[in-house]
Amino acid sequence: MLFCLLLATSGHALELSSRHHPVAVAIPESMTLPDGMRADDKGRLTCATCHGIEDLEDKRREDIDVEAEDFLRGGPWKKLDAFCFQCHDEKPYQRLNIHVQLDEKGAPREETCNYCHRETPDREHPPERDEVELRLPVERICLGCHLKTPHLNALAHSRKVEEKMLENIQAAEKEHGIILPLDGKGHVTCVTCHSPHEKGVIDPQHPAGRQTADRGVEEGPEYLPSRWSPIYQADKEERLPELEKKLGRPVTLQYRRLAAEVLMRLPARDGSLCRACHSFDD
Ligand code: HEC
Ligand code: HEC
Ligand code: HEC
Ligand code: HEC
Ligand code: HEC
Ligand code: HEC
Repeated sequence: MLFCLLLATSGHALELSSRHHPVAVAIPESMTLPDGMRADDKGRLTCATCHGIEDLEDKRREDIDVEAEDFLRGGPWKKLDAFCFQCHDEKPYQRLNIHVQLDEKGAPREETCNYCHRETPDREHPPERDEVELRLPVERICLGCHLKTPHLNALAHSRKVEEKMLENIQAAEKEHGIILPLDGKGHVTCVTCHSPHEKGVIDPQHPAGRQTADRGVEEGPEYLPSRWSPIYQADKEERLPELEKKLGRPVTLQYRRLAAEVLMRLPARDGSLCRACHSFDD
């Protein structure tokens, strides 16, 4: 309620997602805010407690740069959890890594399958994609645990794929022997780029099982800390100018290098993943 009032007093009704963190709530005595984060004079959370963008609440959504380093104070954050744990105790929030799906013997842990699937699918004879029965629509299945904005550009990608791009996707699926599944409305979604499955759950010869996994799922991807490095910008490989020309507007990419990838349908590191959909002029 407080939250609505707060927004109502500002010029714009900036609507936050239902999963957004509560605002204007009192900070309990047991909680210590980290350096650089401040409560308002009544000891409550404000936008500026967490966000380093001035007058965020008065801005229009399209004017907010969610990819700015200080969008979340102290950022960019490699793991969102680390941001949360500055205020919250780690323990109660520790989450089940549902992607650890094989036991020590390499057998599937069925309890993990049933988190997303209505029934455990047959790994030997994977069902057709439209026969897979998930507990939630595919575009929502990841969001209980992950945010809609788990990383830069994820939200910008939940878009419908145009005809030309669809042709690229189909060609890439064929070329690499993989799947890049879209949601029911033809939008890019999390599992378009990510496999939800630990490598080995589905036969790696099967298109749904073929994936990039440089490391274990427990470890997660690894980044080199060369953010905003001039080397990156100079790197022709990224072909940013072409992309900007195509889109007719400036584009911010993730200025950090991937050192190791996991749960990816194709490697992003060398651009293969991006090229499955985007065509750049050579
Ligand atoms: C306790 C910390 C915290 C407070 C307080 C907070 N936010 Fe956020 N906000 C977050 C986090 C965390 C995210 C998700 C970032 C991500 O996914 O990378 C987020 C995301 C957002 C986003 C983009 C995604 C979305 O849900 O639309 C907007 C816009 C936003 N916040 C605005 C606000 C405004 C306006 C206020 C004050 C009314 C506010 N935030 C207060 C932590 C906070
Ligand atoms: C600046 C400190 C701060 C940060 C950073 C922060 N929180 Fe909170 N959070 C609070 C406060 C204060 C409350 C309200 C008091 C309470 O419930 O302990 C709260 C409440 C919550 C609640 C309970 C909400 C409810 O409706 O009961 C959850 C869940 C939560 N936070 C998760 C997160 C997650 C996930 C993140 C990271 C994305 C995060 N918090 C980051 C301060 C913070
Ligand atoms: C985090 C959610 C999630 C978990 C956990 C999960 N799956 Fe899936 N699974 C999906 C989604 C989404 C699809 C459809 C898209 C795809 O094929 O990747 C799918 C598809 C499949 C398919 C069909 C692949 C195809 O497209 O032909 C098989 C087989 C499968 N899962 C087996 C399993 C098994 C076995 C487990 C447990 C060890 C498991 N899944 C755990 C989300 C999950
Ligand atoms: C039950 C909660 C849960 C669900 C549902 C879930 N994840 Fe995760 N996921 C995790 C946890 C926990 C991690 C470990 C890292 C972390 O805490 O962020 C993780 C990590 C990841 C990673 C990073 C790789 C790694 O090994 O750390 C990717 C990519 C990912 N998830 C994609 C997905 C996708 C795509 C879906 C939906 C098909 C999904 N997740 C559904 C809990 C979940
Ligand atoms: C256009 C492709 C694309 C889409 C769509 C996408 N991701 Fe990612 N995601 C990536 C790339 C590239 C990485 C870098 C890590 C890697 O290559 O292993 C990544 C990394 C991650 C990580 C690990 C972050 C870390 O630093 O530990 C998580 C978690 C994740 N994605 C979840 C999601 C979820 C949830 C969605 C849907 C809301 C999503 N992704 C949509 C391409 C994508
Ligand atoms: C499965 C298809 C697909 C993959 C894979 C993919 N993209 Fe995209 N990308 C899209 C779609 C769809 C859009 C939104 C429509 C548009 O702007 O063309 C988009 C938009 C973008 C944008 C513009 C975002 C904005 O600001 O609006 C950038 C930048 C981008 N992609 C970069 C990448 C990079 C870098 C990779 C590889 C890590 C990648 N994409 C992988 C489909 C994809």
